[in-house]
Amino acid sequence: MIATTPIPSDSPLASQKIAHSDISTFADASINLKREDAEEYRGQVSRLRDKLDRYAADHPDYGLIKTLLSGSLAKGTALKTLNDIDVAFYVKAEKAPTGEPELLNWLAERLREAYPQMAASQIQPNKHSVSIKYAVSGLSVDVVPVQYTGDADDRGYLFAFDGGKPVLTSIPLHLKFIRKRKDQQKTHFAQVVRLVKWWVRQQKGRDDGFRLKSFMTEMIVAHLADTGIDYSDYTIALEKVFAYMVKSRLKTRIAFADNYASSKLPAPTGKPIEIFDPVNENNNVASDYTEVQRQKIVDAAQEALEAISQARFATTRGRAIECWQEVLGPSFRG
Ligand SMILES: Nc1ncnc2c1ncn2[C@@H]1O[C@H](COP(=O)(O)OP(=O)(O)OP(=O)(O)O)[C@@H](O)[C@H]1O
Ligand SMILES: [Mg+2]
Repeated sequence: MIATTPIPSDSPLASQKIAHSDISTFADASINLKREDAEEYRGQVSRLRDKLDRYAADHPDYGLIKTLLSGSLAKGTALKTLNDIDVAFYVKAEKAPTGEPELLNWLAERLREAYPQMAASQIQPNKHSVSIKYAVSGLSVDVVPVQYTGDADDRGYLFAFDGGKPVLTSIPLHLKFIRKRKDQQKTHFAQVVRLVKWWVRQQKGRDDGFRLKSFMTEMIVAHLADTGIDYSDYTIALEKVFAYMVKSRLKTRIAFADNYASSKLPAPTGKPIEIFDPVNENNNVASDYTEVQRQKIVDAAQEALEAISQARFATTRGRAIECWQEVLGPSFRG
């Protein structure tokens, strides 16, 4: 599906190709969460965390320990379209209910107690978190319970899969993992993550059966960075990411040596995609992806790759823009 664009082929720009700077400008204008907005959200969520941390301290019997900012706002990989902020609430495992629905209901009660001025309907358990919806901004904060057993690196059990058992992981170690890659390729690593997440968003808009979790996207982009790929030209970076997806068909296991030796990884699990949590060698973050879902990602990556290579051979700028719209959506205008 190629959208039409208004740039005539005889325009003075017509012979120019899409360059790194075009994508970078588009990302700043249309993809990235603005710095001011990020600051405002961080301020809002830090007030919320202060309140919850105080509530936890005032009610020692509940076994609430502390909150941590997790998710894309913490990692600096958020898109402009950010619609939820993730906060982890560490809970003493022996003090709170163990089943997920019970734990979420219990947490919702605690949050309602901490926020008596909010309507109960603003604080609701959903899939794996309790969301707090701010009436004024429309923003919602998803509070995810983490069952904590005293680990120094803040490892704890998190419900990450539908109907599944909680997985042992560590949010601070995830943040450290991302920070390390961000430091190695300043601005570019995070930007490539955001560009690929934006592409995922376009795919989801076309097909609601399409999935590729942000955390998986980050790990794919990190894996390629670790193999030495330079992300400083975004046209090439995106081409490399899609080429990797196509070539590996996402059937090659991805894992990282940051926190465990690769010898600790399990034997092939038989799952269509294996992308292991950098903190827990037994947690395949993609374990609930089906063969059909894997194939959809690979097919979409193939289309993106073809579009990028066609853009390179386009004889007019208008045509090159059309090709890039396949990847970045119709709002990309060069
Ligand atoms: N399957 C999982 N196993 C371990 N930790 C997970 C898993 N899924 C999510 N997490 C944790 O939750 C965090 C949030 O990841 P997620 O992919 O949900 O969204 P995000 O980074 O906030 O992106 P988005 O912009 O889409 O909201 C991750 O950084 C990670 O710490
Ligand atoms: Mg998030």
